[in-house]
Amino acid sequence: MLDKINALLEEVKAFEANTPEEAEAFRVKMLSKKGEIPALFQDFKSVAPEDRKEMGKKLNELKQAATEKVNTVKAQIEAAEGSRKQAEDKPDMTMPVNFWPIGSRHPLSVIRNRINNIFQRIGFVISEGPEIEDDWHNFSALNFPEEHPARDMQDTFFVEKNPDIALRTHTSSVQVRVMESQQPPIRTISPGRVFRNEAISARAHCIFHQVEGLYIDEAVSFADMKQTLLYFAREMFGEETKIRLRPSFFPFTEPSAEMDVSCTLCGGKGCPVCKYSGWIEIMGCGMVDPNVLENCNIDSKKYTGYAFGMGIERIAMIIYQIHDLRMFFENDLRFLKQFEAAN
Ligand code: PHE
Repeated sequence: MLDKINALLEEVKAFEANTPEEAEAFRVKMLSKKGEIPALFQDFKSVAPEDRKEMGKKLNELKQAATEKVNTVKAQIEAAEGSRKQAEDKPDMTMPVNFWPIGSRHPLSVIRNRINNIFQRIGFVISEGPEIEDDWHNFSALNFPEEHPARDMQDTFFVEKNPDIALRTHTSSVQVRVMESQQPPIRTISPGRVFRNEAISARAHCIFHQVEGLYIDEAVSFADMKQTLLYFAREMFGEETKIRLRPSFFPFTEPSAEMDVSCTLCGGKGCPVCKYSGWIEIMGCGMVDPNVLENCNIDSKKYTGYAFGMGIERIAMIIYQIHDLRMFFENDLRFLKQFEAAN
């Protein structure tokens, strides 16, 4: 009998089950009324009195071990079942991935986002406005004299004459709208599409993109502008970049300047990209003309400001070393795919 008990004990220890049915079958075999263990309890009656103590102990051990085993195995199966059900409701993170070919941003968007971001980090907010503008917002408010050549049919796409409605030639028009609707402090940049009636070539297009900036507050100086634009140049082209301001003319700024950056390719030594000058022109800028502030109902005695404007195509051409501006508009996938990583 002892052998039988030991054999069953081994069997109990070794028992494993994957389904509730297997576990139940084992319980029936071992513990049910007609099972092995109750049968042993029957046999126990005929055990010699001197062996009873030890045998009884063994038998009870077996019964307890079998009961525990059945309970734990059933609990384990239930738990596994539960987590399997839960997993079915959730996405399976271990599934292999289908790689869909994803698109990429247009290089002009990449550069525009970078420019926006650089100015947003120092508190400029983005403003947008209509692409079809009236004469006031595109020209008159910006101090363009009546006879200014930029108003000419040569440069501007007119939609209607008298009153003049045209495609905006710069996003300065947006800044007029901002000044008209807000009092200083004003810190804004206006990215957007602009239109000029120019022959299409490697260097010019009738549609291009600009980011223009405007900062108006009390006591804003030319030095503030210079420092901000130096910050921009370094963020855009690299820490070593230098800037240079050359006197220029715009109707809406006085004084006005063109800003050059040290050549990003040769660092100023001279190369074909900078035409051996060491410098590359990237934007126009200046102090907002008091007439412009007054046109927009801003007190020019109290407030001063600076403005600047750059072409996104030009910046993108410098950064990506693109020599023909028309590439941006041809939508040739072989060209566009090169910017895939630049999201
Ligand atoms: N609006 C000018 C242009 O389109 C750029 C500019 C903006 C220049 C602000 C000076 C100040 O060319």
